[in-house]
Amino acid sequence: MMTKYADKPVGPIELVPAERSQESVLANLLELYIHDFSQCRESEIGADGKFGYAELPLYWSDPDRTPFLVRTNGKLAGLVFVRRTQNASDGEIVWDMAEFFILRGYRGRGLGTHVAHEVWKHIPGRWQVRVMESNLPALTFWAHAVSTFLGEAVDPVRVERGGDCWQVFSFQSKPPA
Ligand SMILES: CC(C)(COP(=O)(O)OP(=O)(O)OC[C@H]1O[C@@H](n2cnc3c(N)ncnc32)[C@H](O)[C@@H]1OP(=O)(O)O)[C@@H](O)C(=O)NCCC(=O)NCCS
Repeated sequence: MMTKYADKPVGPIELVPAERSQESVLANLLELYIHDFSQCRESEIGADGKFGYAELPLYWSDPDRTPFLVRTNGKLAGLVFVRRTQNASDGEIVWDMAEFFILRGYRGRGLGTHVAHEVWKHIPGRWQVRVMESNLPALTFWAHAVSTFLGEAVDPVRVERGGDCWQVFSFQSKPPA
């Protein structure tokens, strides 16, 4: 009988800051991520067959940005980009989950929730998570990740910008006791 992915246990999970020497690894993962998104957000692929991610080099030159790689059992499982920016609704400076991606083969096993919680535990302060309104699975995921982290649900605020509609979760994360 075939084992469903969801039945397979997830091994040890690592969230590690990515080195500049790993830029090409992130560029490869970003291609998969953007391709996933292209179902609900218009993304035009270049003549070279790549979507590209122009801001990637900034993740090593701008101190307000940090790139992370996610591994499980020592194997690549996703990426997380964090940045310091203005809150989408009130303009306050906050931490922002700029990009968040778990590879398809590892989904549905709690990995994304675990990784999000690790990020918030290690970077205390005011946070925002912006989710495109059309990305319904991600909306359900973030509502779950935020509520299980805080122990209570947070209602997202709707923000319209540049023709896109976002739901923005805002909350405070505290350092581990
Ligand atoms: C969204 C994403 C990060 C979820 O990662 P994951 O490891 O599969 O998430 P988890 O297993 O921790 O899911 C936790 C809960 O979130 C919800 N959830 C996760 N994926 C879901 C989906 N596709 N549809 C509906 N709910 C979903 C469920 O409530 C789930 O709990 P359950 O498994 O007990 O039902 C992953 O699907 C992904 O990388 N998607 C593409 C990129 C993306 O949309 N990133 C977010 C940008 S805002």
